[in-house]
Formats: sequence, C-alpha cells, structure tokens
Amino acid sequence: MKITKICCIGAGYVGGPTMAVIAQKCPDIKVTVVDLNEARIAAWNDKDTNNIPIYEPGLAEVVAEARGRNLFFSTEVEKAIDEAEMIFISVNTPTKTYGSGKGMAADLKYIELCARQIARVSKSNKIVVEKSTLPVRTAEAIKNILDNTGNGVRFQILSNPEFLAEGTAVQDLLNPDRILIGGDTTEEGQNAINALVDVYANWVAKERILTTNLWSSELSKLTANAFLAQRVSSINALSELCEKTGADVSEVAKAIGMDSRIGPKFLKASVGFGGSCFQKDILNLVYIAKAYGLNEVADYWEQVIIMNDHQKRRFSHKIVTTLYNTVSGKKIAFLGWAFKKDTNDTRESAAIYVADDLINEQAELYVFDPKVAEGQILSDLNYLDSRTAEENKKQVTVAASPYEACKDAHAIAVLTEWDEFRDYDWKKIYDNMMKPAFVFDGRNILDAKQLTEMGFIYKGIGS
Ligand code: UDX
Ligand code: UDX
Ligand code: ADP
Repeated sequence: MKITKICCIGAGYVGGPTMAVIAQKCPDIKVTVVDLNEARIAAWNDKDTNNIPIYEPGLAEVVAEARGRNLFFSTEVEKAIDEAEMIFISVNTPTKTYGSGKGMAADLKYIELCARQIARVSKSNKIVVEKSTLPVRTAEAIKNILDNTGNGVRFQILSNPEFLAEGTAVQDLLNPDRILIGGDTTEEGQNAINALVDVYANWVAKERILTTNLWSSELSKLTANAFLAQRVSSINALSELCEKTGADVSEVAKAIGMDSRIGPKFLKASVGFGGSCFQKDILNLVYIAKAYGLNEVADYWEQVIIMNDHQKRRFSHKIVTTLYNTVSGKKIAFLGWAFKKDTNDTRESAAIYVADDLINEQAELYVFDPKVAEGQILSDLNYLDSRTAEENKKQVTVAASPYEACKDAHAIAVLTEWDEFRDYDWKKIYDNMMKPAFVFDGRNILDAKQLTEMGFIYKGIGS
C-alpha cells in the first residue's frame, strides 16, 4: 500500500516538527496537521515562518519550504481524518492530576477522544499510528475503541514512538539514530508496517528502520527515556558526593565516559532534568510495574525521580544557606527558564521548582530567558498552586535583558545552558550587583576561574 495522504492530530512539539520533516522529505505525500487549538494553528500558518509556535533551530526553514506545497495546518480535524490513509496521533499525554493513578499514570483522555473521533469519521480503511509516548498496551485500548465504535472499516494500529530531543528536533528527525515501528504480527499488520517503512525510507537508511511487535515498541520508548534520565540522576547523585569530597564531577564524568561501555553522553551534572518526557515516562513505568505487582522494579525506577527532586531542592537550599540563611527581600536573578537550551518549552523545567522554593523564602526574582515570554513564566508558577497568581506576580519580574535582571541582585542563578550566557559582559554585570556578588551556576557553563578573578563568588554543581 502506498501512502499519499497523512493526517496528524496534534500540532505540538512532536507533531509539528515531525510532520514538517516528513512533508519536506516526501513531496508526493500530502501531510495535514490538525489541532483543536485555533491560535496554535493560526501561528503555524503565520506568513512569517519565524512566528510559528515552536522554536527549534532550522524548523522555520523546513516549514517555509513545504508549507502550502504538501504541508498544511488546519483546525478541520474530521476532514483531514476522512481524507487520509494514515493518521498519526500526536496529542499530549500528561500525568493524571485526578482520580486513580493521580500523579503517576498517563492521562489518556486525549488519546481516547482521538480514537473515538477517528472511528466515527472513517469511511475507508486506515492505519492509525501512535506517535505520542504511551504506556505499554495502549494500542490494545485504541484498537478496542476503533473496532467497537467504527463504521465497519478496518484499522491497523502501529506504534512509532518519536525519539527527537527538543532543541535539536530538526537534526534528530533528519538523521535519526533509529526509527522504531511496532505492529501486529499478522499479514495485515506487516503490510501496515511496510507502508510506514516506505515513508521513512525516503530519507532514512533501511538498516536504521527497526520493526518489532507493538508491545516492544511501546515499552522501548519508555525504557529509552528512563535510561537517559537515569544517567542524569546518576551523575547528579555523584555531584553531591563530589562537593563533599573535593572531587570534581566534570573530571569524574570525563574519566568514566571514556570507557566505551559507559560512553560520554548524558553525563552533565545539572540542577536537575526537566522536559515533558523524562518524569512523565518514568512515573508511567513505575505505575505500570506496580500494577503488575512488581514492587522492586517500581522502586528501582522511582529512585531516579526522587534523586531529581532532591537535586532541584538542593540547589535552592544552597542559595539560601550561602546567602547567610536568608533571601527574604533579596533580589535574585534567574538566567534561563526553559528546561534546556534552544527551546521555548518550559514543561517540568527545574527553574520552576527552584523559583517556587525561593519565593517561599520571600526572595524577589528577576527572570531573563531569551525565548520564554512573561505569560509562560507566570503560568508555570501558577500551575503549581503554591500561592495565588497575585502573589506570584508580586514576587516575580520578567526582565527584558540579562543586565536588567542582574542589576542590584544579590545573586545570579543559571538555570538553563543557553550559549549566549557565556558571552555576556560579566564585568558590567559584576559592577552593577550587590556585594558580595554570588553566581550559582546550575549548568556549569560559565568560566569559574574568570568570574572568580573578577570578584564573583562562584558556585557550580559538583565541585
Ligand atoms: C568489572 C569491570 O568491567 C572492570 O572494568 C573492572 O576493572 C572490574 O570489574 P569484571 O567484574 O571482571 O570487570 O567483569 P564484567 O565484564 O564487568 O562483568 C561483571 C558481571 O556483570 C559479570 O557477572 C557479567 O556476567 C555481568 N554482566 C555484564 C551482565 O550480566 N550483563 C552485561 O551486559 C554485562
Ligand atoms: C528527551 C529524549 O532525549 C528524547 O529522545 C525523547 O524523545 C524525549 O525526551 P528532551 O526532553 O527534549 O528529549 O531533551 P533531553 O536533551 O533529553 O534533556 C532532558 C533534560 O535532561 C533536560 O532538562 C536537560 O537539561 C537534562 N540533561 C540532559 C542534563 O541535565 N544532563 C545531561 O547530561 C543531559
Ligand atoms: P507534545 O510535546 O506531545 O507534542 P503538545 O502539548 O505540544 O505535546 O501538543 C499536543 C497538541 O495536541 C496540543 O496542541 C493540543 O491542542 C492537541 N490536541 C489534544 N487533543 C486533541 C484532539 N482531540 N484533537 C486535536 N488536537 C488535539
């Protein structure tokens, strides 16, 4: 079966970039990305592709090339479903905030709504592809809904998890380490798998396209994120020990990373991992393990989250104790709010939790992030529900420049590793700060020696 029309439900951080690259690389396939959020679709259709709703290096150019040719963004969900032979589900699957599994299980309500809508609208056979990260065996639920509420047409379900990382999405999509496609072991299932393999084969070498059964594919996505997050928690755990023993975590990371069995990547000690995936997926894994009665397995993985929460709290605590046990009424500048550099995404960013702690200590925060707007920063804090929106607004000011954020500050906290932070005029920043001038580098990106020579009291992570 040759695919000529694809529909993707969900124009977010995963659906948007992924479909843009598929459209760019497959000019013969019409790709329509739909979303209920009208403002988001309007932004994807903005004449100036620099105004698309997601900041990713290189993405504006890809969209500019394909949009209007074979890439379309629309709110007409039913029309796009009806036309397509293949439908990607790329909607959000947040952690449940209510009921059973609250705080752990994935909330599948958006997925279920999609499945019901696909079933209702479809008048011809369809391949339905899970793109969002889902708990293992979700495909079974989707299949049940499709087969029991549909119009008698046939559905094949594939799992095709996305491994792109934000900030490098376009590069990751163009040169993926691997593409993973899981499907039914029946002949129909294999045909569906092959149809999707052919789409990717337009730009990905066949040996990098891996096919498995549905459950292996679903579980591999959770496992990959759990392993990556585990490395960050492992090095962060060692960072605390380094601070006590005189070892330097960067030196330790380099020394162990040169062992080819360990490898050098994902060993940067930090203020803690964030992002929409790591915590959610591990909680999900923990919940699933518990559901099967596998308590040791659940506890093992939960420790990765416990360590990460500790690392965030440890950072804010260090700021308070270093500033003579009180930050009440003191101005503290935050450089960075995004959960990593080169993205405007702030979901689960460590900055949010560090800020929340410091507001509890009555600090006055001045935040500067090159890509995150004021509304997002305040709404991230309000979402925690620690205090009223008015109180958050009173304690937090979003600055227009780093120099404004740092002027008259008692301390600077670096929360995101944006490259531009290194190149600021640090002498000018120092001259305009309260003394002693403290820098808490939660990403170990600044030049400690140079800053110390200027007069800063510099505190990195793990040294
Ligand atoms: C280890 C370290 O590898 C080595 O660098 C250090 O100097 C000494 O400790 P060793 O104990 O000799 O070496 O063997 P290793 O290959 O690391 O295996 C240790 C155990 O892990 C073995 O029982 C092995 O069977 C097991 N293992 C290893 C697994 O079960 N699965 C794996 O994927 C790898
Ligand atoms: C991750 C996975 O990498 C990606 O494959 C999956 O599809 C989605 O989840 P993402 O969350 O976008 O991607 O970013 P990633 O680069 O993995 O970083 C996650 C968090 O870990 C960030 O907060 C980052 O700053 C932190 N991190 C990463 C560290 O603190 N140290 C490291 O060494 C690496
Ligand atoms: P991700 O990082 O997984 O891409 P996002 O939250 O960025 O998550 O994107 C998910 C998108 O899916 C949102 O823009 C949301 O409006 C959209 N969405 C959720 N449910 C539906 C639905 N039933 N129909 C269409 N779009 C949906």
